[in-house]
Amino acid sequence: MKPENIARAARALYSGHLVAFPTETVYGLGADAQNREAVSRIFSVKGRPQDHPLIVHVSSEELMSEWAVEIPSFAHALAQSFWPGPMTLILKRSKLAQDEVTGGQDTVGLRVPDNETALALLSEFEHLGGKGVAAPSANRFGKVSPTTAAAVENELSDYLSGEDIILDSGQSYVGIESTIIDCTGERPVILRPGAITPAMVEASTGLNVGDLHSRIRVSGSLESHYSPTAAVVLNAQPVEGDGFIAMSSVKTPEGVVRLAAPKTTEEYAHVLYAALRQADELALGKVIAITPEGDDIALAITDRLVRASTPKME
Ligand code: TXA
Ligand code: MG
Repeated sequence: MKPENIARAARALYSGHLVAFPTETVYGLGADAQNREAVSRIFSVKGRPQDHPLIVHVSSEELMSEWAVEIPSFAHALAQSFWPGPMTLILKRSKLAQDEVTGGQDTVGLRVPDNETALALLSEFEHLGGKGVAAPSANRFGKVSPTTAAAVENELSDYLSGEDIILDSGQSYVGIESTIIDCTGERPVILRPGAITPAMVEASTGLNVGDLHSRIRVSGSLESHYSPTAAVVLNAQPVEGDGFIAMSSVKTPEGVVRLAAPKTTEEYAHVLYAALRQADELALGKVIAITPEGDDIALAITDRLVRASTPKME
């Protein structure tokens, strides 16, 4: 990414426009987190309800204390271990975090993404005087998160203005959204599983994260789809004309459209959303996905697949 493109995008953000930018998880749709009008445009471009909180992206852990108060030591430990990286911390908000960003809650979500372009953009924006960039995933509400700039363009170009910018730096390497960890209680609670696993959180903090499975169910918010137009069915036998996603060790039955055959769970996460998008590009009616085994990022993949397979709310 050319420095002048980063500088232009930082200026656009600072003057109230939207910038879609790459992160290691998925692409985000960013606005100056202190600019109410810019933040409200995120909701209209996404078609998302206004009361949904947004994650504030910053270039380093140092900005944590600007956005949050009463930060527990285990949250500092997590930041030290995993930032920049695919992890969002939920903390008690400071006065900087306004209702437009927090959805009216008294907490704020913070993240330092691990992507060169994103970090350069955030640093440049902070250099201009900005404090943080509020950004949800750059998809229309309820749809699959984009992992490439082309996917952002497909989803949002009808809704963006001429002064908004989409930055392109290739395919996001993690491929699914960050692990969200609630740090407002006595110990960390995982609200959304991701590449930072419960075992990693326990190793970093020395604290037990509790029963992840029951937490995942509880956190099932409105944004419970992550779904393509095609119906997603889990762990079934595909028939002719169906799309199929499974580990490479699983053979493709005759007449079935293989959308992904990852060799590892990391690769599964990396290709999952592109595979779901491809199902729609091919106008498939149904996608069969075989959920991966394991306690690592497999948990997060299964979480997203379960949500994608849940019938849409009208
Ligand atoms: O990987 C990611 O987290 C990506 C990239 C762009 O950083 N962002 C992302 O944002 O997935 P979004 O808005 O699509 O999902 C963020 C989730 C939402 O479900 C939101 O409810 C939750 O984070 N969230 C944000 N702030 C929160 C808060 N203060 N309390 C509880 N949940 C919060
Ligand atoms: Mg999202």
